[in-house]
Amino acid sequence: MADLAHVLRHLPRTADQRLLAGAAFGDDAAIYQLNAEIALIQSVDFFAPIVDDPYSYGQIAAANALSDIYAMGGQPLVALNIVAFPLKSLPSSILQEILKGGSDKVQEAGASIIGGHTIEDDEPKYGLAVTGTVSPDRFVPSAGAKAGDRLILTKPIGTGVIATAGKERTAPPGDIDEAIRWMSALNRDAATAMLAAGAHAATDVTGFGLLGHLSELARASGLAAEIDVSAVPLLPGALELARAGHIPGGTQTNLDALRGKLKVAGDIGSEWLSLLADPQTSGGLLVTLPDGAVPAFEASITGQMLAAVVGKLEAREGRAGHVQIS
Ligand code: CO
Repeated sequence: MADLAHVLRHLPRTADQRLLAGAAFGDDAAIYQLNAEIALIQSVDFFAPIVDDPYSYGQIAAANALSDIYAMGGQPLVALNIVAFPLKSLPSSILQEILKGGSDKVQEAGASIIGGHTIEDDEPKYGLAVTGTVSPDRFVPSAGAKAGDRLILTKPIGTGVIATAGKERTAPPGDIDEAIRWMSALNRDAATAMLAAGAHAATDVTGFGLLGHLSELARASGLAAEIDVSAVPLLPGALELARAGHIPGGTQTNLDALRGKLKVAGDIGSEWLSLLADPQTSGGLLVTLPDGAVPAFEASITGQMLAAVVGKLEAREGRAGHVQIS
């Protein structure tokens, strides 16, 4: 199978000194310095429907696209719709609902949709290209973690398992509703708390799962990670659905990508490993903070976001990006 990460590593690199962060650094969004005070921050994301309800799908796709801006401490300003839709076979009212969901979410973020582009396609796809601003000396990179940092996760995991069970019509409706509520939630409040607490590094948890994004953050920071399974927050129903075998296809791909980097305690069940590698849609922020700053983060986190301390980062010679799970 083609390895996407391998292809992306061979993208041409820019030598422009004004590029402060981006794909070449392993970051969620690209940061381009305009002057001493201000930098542009940009990201794009779109995907096929993950839930049945078109309005919720639009909300989730927008929250997910905005998340890469928040993960680096940026403020979204404007966004462009990216749309693929089978206009000949599905009623246009569905597309209207998707776009309404996206627009409402962008508005909630204090930003505006200022245009976009639609193409005809067999399967709907929706997302945003987002542009915002960030302070050139206050953004939060993925490579900034320090040995001894605590790892904080702001949303429960399990959206992949629940969406998979949802497609198989076996997820309890209440579990799907709760997953939608979390996937639709903006990471804005978590970003505000992370800036207030002086986070060293952050990323958002999406397609590579908690383990994949954690490993990448640790590797970029030259550190190894430890994760405490009992502290990892799960969506209601996720553990039961994982035990029942509703594992998305991407989970094994995520685990394969981490081969040789995981050390798993003997009492950790395979369902837990599946959940830790579960591909997330619009997941929470994974934030690293010095131990002493955790209370400040907890104090400034508001709304429905969590401040779950799930592990820590350590210096381990020759083991950058390795994750120990206990
Ligand atoms: Co991201």
